[in-house]
This record gives sequence, C-alpha cells and structure tokens, in this order.
Amino acid sequence: MLPTKKEKFSLNSKITWRCPSNIAIVKYWGKKGNQLPCNTSISMVLSQSFTETTLELSEKKSKNAVELAYFFEKKKQASFEERIRKYLENQYKHFPFLKECALTVHSFNSFPHSAGIASSASAFGSIALALLDAAKHNSVDEPFLKKASRLARLGSGSASRSMFAGFAVWGKNKWIPESSDQYAVQLNEVHQNFMQMQDAILMIDESEKPVSSSIGHSLMYGHPFAKNRFKQANERSIKLIEVLSSGDYESFIEITEAEALTLHAMMMTSKNHYMLMKPGTVAAIEKIISFRKESSIPICFTLDAGPNVHLLYPKDYKEKVHAFINSNFKKVIFDKIGSGPQKTS
Ligand code: PMV
Repeated sequence: MLPTKKEKFSLNSKITWRCPSNIAIVKYWGKKGNQLPCNTSISMVLSQSFTETTLELSEKKSKNAVELAYFFEKKKQASFEERIRKYLENQYKHFPFLKECALTVHSFNSFPHSAGIASSASAFGSIALALLDAAKHNSVDEPFLKKASRLARLGSGSASRSMFAGFAVWGKNKWIPESSDQYAVQLNEVHQNFMQMQDAILMIDESEKPVSSSIGHSLMYGHPFAKNRFKQANERSIKLIEVLSSGDYESFIEITEAEALTLHAMMMTSKNHYMLMKPGTVAAIEKIISFRKESSIPICFTLDAGPNVHLLYPKDYKEKVHAFINSNFKKVIFDKIGSGPQKTS
C-alpha cells in the first residue's frame, strides 16, 4: 500500500520500501549517455522476488559529502556501498538531507543470490524509493513513481521498470505514447490472459556469472549487429504492446523466446564473446518446447543475463505446469506477476 498522507521524516526515524524485481520480455541490452537505453524494453514486474531497504538517518559525524554505511543481509558490503556512494554523490541535489544527515542502509532480498533474478533492479528500486520518500516528506502519487523510476534508472537501468504494477515500458519509441529514455511507464491496456502470468525460475546453475551486465552492455558498442538489434527490439516492443492488449498467447510466446535467444546471441557474437547459457539451460528450453507441443499449453521460456530459465505460464494451467516442473526440475523459485513497490514502514 502506498502512503498517502504527508509525512515528516526526521533524524533517527526509519523508512522502509519493498521493491520487486522484474523480468524483461523485450530486453534492454546496450546503453548510451547517462544510463540511457539504446532501445525500448518491456518487462513484467514480479511479486515474491523483492528487495526491502530500510534507511536510517542520524547526525553526521564527518565532513564527507556522503556519510554512508551499507549492510546487505546484516553484513557490511564494501563494493555495493561504494556503488551507492557514487550514486549518491552524483544525485546529491535530489537528496538535500544528505548535507546534514548520515545514512545507514539495510537491505535484504527475498530470493537467493545468483538465482537468475535481477537483484540490481530490486535493490536500486528500493533504495531510490526510500531516498526519494525521505527527501520529499510528501504524498506518493504517480509523479513520485515516475521520479523514482528515473532515479532508480541512474543506479541500474532495469530498476526503472520495477516501479509499476504488471507490465512497464522503458525507452523512447515514437510509436509508444508517453515512452521515455529517462523513466519507465506502466502499460495500462493488458488483457486478462497476461494479468495472471506465473513465472517459475528454474535453477540451472547458481555460480557467480563470469561477465557482469555492465560489461555486457558495453560490448554492444561497435557490435556488428547493434544497429539492427536496437531496431528489432523497438519493433518487437510495438508488437508486444499490441499482443499484450489483445491476449494473443501465440505471438507472446514468439516474441518472448526470440528476445531471450537474441540477448544471448548478442553475447555470443560480441567482440569478446562469451556464453552464459549452460548445457542445462538448453536442455530445459528443449523440454519446455516439447511440453508445449504435446500439451498445447501456452508456456514459454525467457532468460536474463544468466543460465537460469524463467518459465512463463498462465495461472489457468498451473496444475498441469507444476506437474511438468516437478517431474523435470529439482530447484525452482515460484513467482508471478506483481503489483509494484510497497512502503512497509
Ligand atoms: O539493469 P542492468 O544494467 O542490470 O541490465 C539488465 C539487462 C537484462 O537484465 C539482461 C535485460 C533487461 O532488460 O532487464
């Protein structure tokens, strides 16, 4: 539930926001300028996979521009603390309370690390929401979420899409009204078929990924297929919006799977090529396709930048799909479409 009344945020008070992760259907891969996307992307926000971040403000003891202590699951995390510090230094003007206050941040994830769930999206999403709320002392309405989306984007591009219920689009596209490179917007016309979408994340490999997403994005500079890829993603986004509003499962499956494979094809064909899929990823994809053919149930797969497989299916087929999952996969995280961020205290 979003808060509606005017609230005063003062020293020694705490503020907590929960922000879900999201899974992209049309992928963002390649950025320009200050964290701006090279193409339009569209994602579905999750429900069970979220980061919860608590901010505590106290009196500043040093003269540092930003006095910050960051804890992830109760442990001090120096590398992410540094990333947040840089982020805060760059966005200083948005958070005037940093002049007088020291900031302690505690985050935890509802999902395991390296699970194939975009943790930077939910982490930066929840941090941006809590900071903005602390800075604003104000009601949380639509412009608040738009601003939160922009601020989250500056920390992690995909975080911009975690601010809304259901499906969100990010990246300027002349055929998509209201779309912007600066922030994501919610897609309002979504057919009932997709508003009940389930996402089972099949754990194939949980080791740390060898190439980070930021390196992956940078490899799109000078990539031989970049220009066509960005055009393709923009066109698929327009098509996906039509499909989401008409309820056409077949076209949804076609776009979703093509996007997953294109993302990985970009990695495999970049200058310093690399592969994040594992043999188990390919085996899972083959099983999903065979099951779809045999059962005529409209399930499909997508991939994030990692080897784990997101299996998307409509709620109406839950029982049969769970029987398929249970007989084929050992470790699974069950999630589904969500309703966006939440202020929890
Ligand atoms: O937000 P970043 O910089 O972690 O990039 C995310 C990129 C993908 O997850 C692979 C695709 C996407 O659109 O979320």
